[in-house]
Amino acid sequence: MGKRTIVAMPGDGIGKAVLDECIRVLDAAGFDANYVNGDIGWEFWCKEGDPLPERTIKLLEEHKIGLFGAITSKPKDKTAAELAPELQGKGYTYYSPIVTMRQHFNLDICMRPCLTYKGNPLNFIRRTANGGVEEPLIDVMIFRQNTEGLYGGVEWTNPSDQVYNAFLTHKKFVENFSWCPREELAISTRIFTKKYVTRIVKAAFEYAKKRGFSKITVCEKPNVIRETSGMMLKVAQEMSKAEYPNIWVEDVNIDAMTMWLTKNPENYNVIVAGNMFGDIVSDAFAGLIGGLGFATSAQFNPESGVCVFEPTHGSAPKYAGYETSIVNPIAMISSAVMMLEHIGENAIATRIKKAVADVIEEGKVRAYDMMKLKGTQEVINQGAASTKQMADAIIAKLK
Ligand code: NAI
Ligand code: MG
Repeated sequence: MGKRTIVAMPGDGIGKAVLDECIRVLDAAGFDANYVNGDIGWEFWCKEGDPLPERTIKLLEEHKIGLFGAITSKPKDKTAAELAPELQGKGYTYYSPIVTMRQHFNLDICMRPCLTYKGNPLNFIRRTANGGVEEPLIDVMIFRQNTEGLYGGVEWTNPSDQVYNAFLTHKKFVENFSWCPREELAISTRIFTKKYVTRIVKAAFEYAKKRGFSKITVCEKPNVIRETSGMMLKVAQEMSKAEYPNIWVEDVNIDAMTMWLTKNPENYNVIVAGNMFGDIVSDAFAGLIGGLGFATSAQFNPESGVCVFEPTHGSAPKYAGYETSIVNPIAMISSAVMMLEHIGENAIATRIKKAVADVIEEGKVRAYDMMKLKGTQEVINQGAASTKQMADAIIAKLK
């Protein structure tokens, strides 16, 4: 295989620090690639009035694979105030570059793994029957539909006549909401399409099959949200019958799931959900395996092949100005591991994963979050590894 070109999008704040270290680890592991820099984030909003410049979109169109750090976004009053003086008053409006990237490339499949690393002091523990403690091994992949549902952006405040009249055709709206003055109404829709529900469910089944799991869990709420959640459950049940007879479909409501996952997280391996519930359940699981220093995600479109890999944390602006970066690069590095697996570089992926696991299990090198320290500049003096030292430790284990 020829040399790959990866679009490296550091973004803002700590995005740059973690991505730099991640690329060092990839190089050391022998991943042969060129990196082209993709501009994204607050900096480009301020300088150009565009947080996701067209040139970055072009790069992703051409090279297909993106490694993304994190961006900063700020409230409305700041977006106007921080725009370069020569651009002010010229009709520029801020938009989320992440959502835009997702929508532009229709990155409908989002995978969020949560995996226990042995020896991570942040691992979830629970009480045993005799009063002791035990640490369940968590190994779950969450498949989140990434483009539709409650985050689809079809919403109104004080809806127009046309929209309002359409709602008046629904009995439940007339009964429960028509008392409310229209200008006091806010409506956000939850739209599911069979095409994209089928795609995310299929991705979950394929993963389960590959890993040898005998069940997938649909984490929605079909008993109440009958149309959309109901569609996802039905698609999964029919697909199980028709294509995956050895994989059964478990139906767990999102609210119940947030309770079960601290009781028996090891009972779940493959979870599929719509956009918002997928967002919630993946953050909830991430908390059990160490939180933001460890949580990672991949988003892709199976047709165009465009894919973007990123940690779930943000740009942590407070930490960005530190002379020595202290944030944990493991979430970013694990995103790169997902990238390698996605493009078939499994041997390198496995080496990096093992090196990360070895460093964590050995316990000599720990980022401040793993020491449960408050993230001040003092943590280095308290024995915490810097971002670079953590990457160095991982590189040293790459045998
Ligand atoms: P954040 O994820 O940036 O930081 C929250 C806290 O988590 C930090 O203060 C730090 O204590 C900890 N943390 C984050 N990453 C860490 C790491 N790698 N290692 C150790 N600890 C880590 O979220 P916050 O503070 O809510 O948002 C900051 C900015 O990031 C905002 O402008 C927000 O809009 C943006 N954001 C961007 C995201 C993205 O680019 N995907 C996602 C979430 C927030
Ligand atoms: Mg989230």
